[in-house]
Amino acid sequence: MSKIISFDNVSLKFGGVQALKEISFDIDEGSLFAIIGPNGAGKTSILNCINGIYKPSSGNINIFGEDSANLNPDEIANLGVSRTFQNIELFENMTTLDNILIGAHKHVNYGPIRSLIYSKKVRIEEEKARKISEDVIDFLEIEEYRYSYILSLPYGIQKRIELGRALAMEPKVLLLDEPAAGMNNEETEDIARFILDIHEELGITVILIDHDMNMVMDIATEVVAMDFGEKLFQGDPRDAAKDQKVIDAYLGVG
Ligand SMILES: Nc1ncnc2c1ncn2[C@@H]1O[C@H](COP(=O)(O)OP(=O)(O)O)[C@@H](O)[C@H]1O
Ligand SMILES: [Mg+2]
Repeated sequence: MSKIISFDNVSLKFGGVQALKEISFDIDEGSLFAIIGPNGAGKTSILNCINGIYKPSSGNINIFGEDSANLNPDEIANLGVSRTFQNIELFENMTTLDNILIGAHKHVNYGPIRSLIYSKKVRIEEEKARKISEDVIDFLEIEEYRYSYILSLPYGIQKRIELGRALAMEPKVLLLDEPAAGMNNEETEDIARFILDIHEELGITVILIDHDMNMVMDIATEVVAMDFGEKLFQGDPRDAAKDQKVIDAYLGVG
């Protein structure tokens, strides 16, 4: 299996806070790679380092064979990395379809003059974005909300739409920051099923943050456990649940 993302001794500091302490791991293409750990462990910081929003204080990150120090967030996104956020970041006064179209437009290419003239090329590109968006809407089973405004929709559906916008970018790697946060059991099961389908049917590498261990145990192929910026564990999710350091971190011991 080929590695598509590698962290090599990555540290990240914010003033006196060390969000990441000499973290190393490789992410295999095709994996469903989970990052778990309590609040403040450094999970979101890892995603922000992957997509280039944060630059490590020391160490190296390699993405698709390129040193990410030379890439800005847009360039990393264009390599095929898209994400969702811990807090929903959708345009609330727009419809589901329009929010997902924004994702699909990520790879639609035309300049402002061309779109002003509305040339044939623009029309073809528009149709392509529309097609991608409709496919995503079908896939996530949100047809009935297509023309609903975001702010009128239940939280669990909003989270699913945010997932849809990320999917519409047709990523190679999808970064999901607590996709089940704040959801009830039924919504959590639904989102877990969609994440599995994205991984298995669409073949997208998924990097999933969650602090709900159960969901991770059910669907991840590999897990890293974090606590206070340190990597406590890496391996099979079933072994993580038996690891004393992981158990202690979750119980707040040690
Ligand atoms: N932009 C930032 N500025 C200052 N401190 C930050 C910033 N981002 C994260 N941190 C700190 O880094 C640590 C790890 O945060 P984070 O990666 O968000 O953890 P998690 O996602 O596991 O809850 C925390 O102590 C947090 O306060
Ligand atoms: Mg976080």
